[in-house]
Amino acid sequence: MAVGTVLVTGGTGYIGSFTALALLENGYEVVIVDNLYNSSEVAVDRIEAICGKRAAFYKVDVTDEAGLDEVFAKHPEIDSVIHFAALKAVGESGEIPLEYYRVNVGGSISLLRAMTRANVPNIVFSSSATVYGDATRVPNMIPIPEHCPIGPTNTYGRTKVMIETVITDHIDAQRNNSKKKGEPFEKWNGALLRYFNPCGSHPSGIMGEDPQGVPYNLLPLLGKVATGEREKLLVFGDDYASKDGTAIRDYIHVLDLARGHLAALNYLRENKPGVKAWNLGSGRGSTVFEMIKAFSKVVGRDLPYEVVERRQGDVLNLTANPALANAELKWKTELTLEDACADLWRWVENNPKGYRQDPPAELLETLKAGKAQ
Ligand SMILES: NC(=O)c1ccc[n+]([C@@H]2O[C@H](COP(=O)([O-])OP(=O)(O)OC[C@H]3O[C@@H](n4cnc5c(N)ncnc54)[C@H](O)[C@@H]3O)[C@@H](O)[C@H]2O)c1
Repeated sequence: MAVGTVLVTGGTGYIGSFTALALLENGYEVVIVDNLYNSSEVAVDRIEAICGKRAAFYKVDVTDEAGLDEVFAKHPEIDSVIHFAALKAVGESGEIPLEYYRVNVGGSISLLRAMTRANVPNIVFSSSATVYGDATRVPNMIPIPEHCPIGPTNTYGRTKVMIETVITDHIDAQRNNSKKKGEPFEKWNGALLRYFNPCGSHPSGIMGEDPQGVPYNLLPLLGKVATGEREKLLVFGDDYASKDGTAIRDYIHVLDLARGHLAALNYLRENKPGVKAWNLGSGRGSTVFEMIKAFSKVVGRDLPYEVVERRQGDVLNLTANPALANAELKWKTELTLEDACADLWRWVENNPKGYRQDPPAELLETLKAGKAQ
């Protein structure tokens, strides 16, 4: 018997696919909806190749309420949702803000409405450390705790803050309305997971980040420099107040992040806390130059880069204080930055075309042999 059935929106995307894998590996059934705007359905096959279980997949847009209603009707066993589907390019969000509000905020409202009609009470939401903005503006907020004042510096971050607010108001209202009717109200719960910088791939080398357009996160870009697909890495500013002048981020292996979702979902189901926010990060800050060094070491040569102007909306330091998640969710990161770099390189080196190619046979053999042991 399955532990539960989870609808994963954006489940063929980077973090969504790894979370779907973690759910399947831990006894959950998974139903994915994704419009494939930034991902490929092949992710569903790779998840199955790794864990031997298949997620159901529906090509549905999260802004399409009728489409979501149909999925919930087909799967009345769904009792929780993990919501990843969103647009996420910080720069682009300033150029086409209405599209970001429509998809991110509008899509979340559609989802919550469909969930409510289907009586699905738990939601785990992909928020971001971006909601804090420049935490160095407030004394003693690095590493950043959840009580750090919110202050996003870009449109993308503002969509995340709005969605957190919408979820909080909605779950509170569902609890109050249920109480008034004398119905069980504790079942309505939400987790707001504020991720720091997800990175890395599956250690098998057959599953990783495969965005449809140009990646803009540091490690995937470094991967493209290493394969020669890009000439050099652009470093946005070396005049920050850090030890080497480049911005500080908290890099978290995507396998650890996926486990964090599982921990949060289990916490909601067991403790019924209402809505709560948790940071998912390692607590360790690394500069851009340190990351270039770590990845270059794995690749075995120095990777070229060029320092250019700071990017608008970027902040000096986003390092998590993950103490709350450590204590309440009994979750902490287990993998290192070096693990993430090695796993990413194995994925990039062996799959230069991402999911548009078959994985190398020897990686599949190794995976099979590992399973047989
Ligand atoms: N990667 C990061 O650095 C990071 C950091 C913090 C938060 N997040 C959040 O985590 C979530 C997942 O990010 P990711 O890195 O896996 O990105 P991703 O682009 O790989 O995944 C998002 C998925 O959502 C899908 N999607 C987009 N619009 C949709 C729509 N209208 N309907 C249905 N599906 C849609 C895309 O096709 C994609 O598969 C996002 O909400 C993102 O904002 C990401």
